[in-house]
Amino acid sequence: MPWRFNDNVLIINDAGLIINNGFITDVGPWDLLRSRYEYDRIINAEDSLVTAGLVDPHTHLLFAGSREDELELKLNGVSYEDILKRGGGIRRTIEATVKADDKELVKVGLSRLTQALSYGTTTIEVKSGYGLSIDQEIRLLRLINDLKNRIEVDIVVTFLAHVPLGNGREGYVRDIVNSMSKIRDLATFADVFCDSEAFTVNESKVILEAAYNAGLGLRMHADELSYIGCSDLARELELTSIDHLLNTPEGNIKVMAVRGITATLLPITVLTLMTNKRPLVNVMRSSRAITAIGTDFSPNTWSISMQTAMELSSYLLGLTPMEALMAATVNSAYSLGLRDRGVLMPGYLADVVIWNVPNYRWLTYSIGANKVKAIVKRGKVITGDCLS
Ligand code: NIG
Ligand code: FE
Repeated sequence: MPWRFNDNVLIINDAGLIINNGFITDVGPWDLLRSRYEYDRIINAEDSLVTAGLVDPHTHLLFAGSREDELELKLNGVSYEDILKRGGGIRRTIEATVKADDKELVKVGLSRLTQALSYGTTTIEVKSGYGLSIDQEIRLLRLINDLKNRIEVDIVVTFLAHVPLGNGREGYVRDIVNSMSKIRDLATFADVFCDSEAFTVNESKVILEAAYNAGLGLRMHADELSYIGCSDLARELELTSIDHLLNTPEGNIKVMAVRGITATLLPITVLTLMTNKRPLVNVMRSSRAITAIGTDFSPNTWSISMQTAMELSSYLLGLTPMEALMAATVNSAYSLGLRDRGVLMPGYLADVVIWNVPNYRWLTYSIGANKVKAIVKRGKVITGDCLS
């Protein structure tokens, strides 16, 4: 079940978790549990906050190159849209990515996943999107799949229709639609960047309908730069998540809440776009929309830390620390179709973070430090010194 605003969250002091074969089998006050079970190993989390592992539901993790010079352009008043119009932004990253060989991409991919894990992310979504031609997109999807076996983090793969080809946009949409059976074998979700400077509402609809018919889950980048009607598709399509939502009208957020479409907030990108626009978190709260948080790691938003995303969700968007935690765990897992993780309850995966802080409020109160003390993935301690 996802978490809706105002739902209760049970906090247990001096708690214990019983883990068996990678799953949580019991949880409760440690004094009670310790007498009931025999155990061969104790993970000691004394004086520390313990939560479910973080789930990052939105990253553009696999690309070559970087675009640090665009920061200076932005500081001089050139907008993200203008950079894109001039052939910079995503288009530049596509050029660099297409030139990079598989080995190089796997290497950067792995190093970024390792970093994500060190910040407490135990499950991560990774999108393609910097290939442009369908063959290159399929290469990226294959490489993302290759990364799965090389690291403990669980990876959910998404095909992203990122930017349409200048003159050949109709042909590109057709290529995508015609390739859905191949994409389906390599990805769980399809996503479209629907916005001014990207795909139109109609193009997005055509792509997402084809994806749906092929059995893929649907996500969308919508209303990030401006509102051209993208989030209206919440009424028509079986979307799982709509992300960004900086310009989304109130009515569409209410539709998402009723239809159970996750509203995914990307607070680090609110910062990197240098915009005054904000998603309508109050409407999400009053309509009890399922709300998630992601990093949106990309060359435009160079942070793979879900901790930073949570911190900024409080300070920029007004989420409380508990709302941020639910958005970054159980709801982000839900938005990826994963019902087996995100809370510490019997029957759930033992993906656990032990934090260097005494209570959950510190998760968004303190800024910039890596607050992870230890990480347990499927019951196995993979970082941190907490075995006794
Ligand atoms: O979610 N909006 C589209 N894609 C990314 C940015 C990608 C890029 O700038 O390279 C985003 O913000
Ligand atoms: Fe994105």
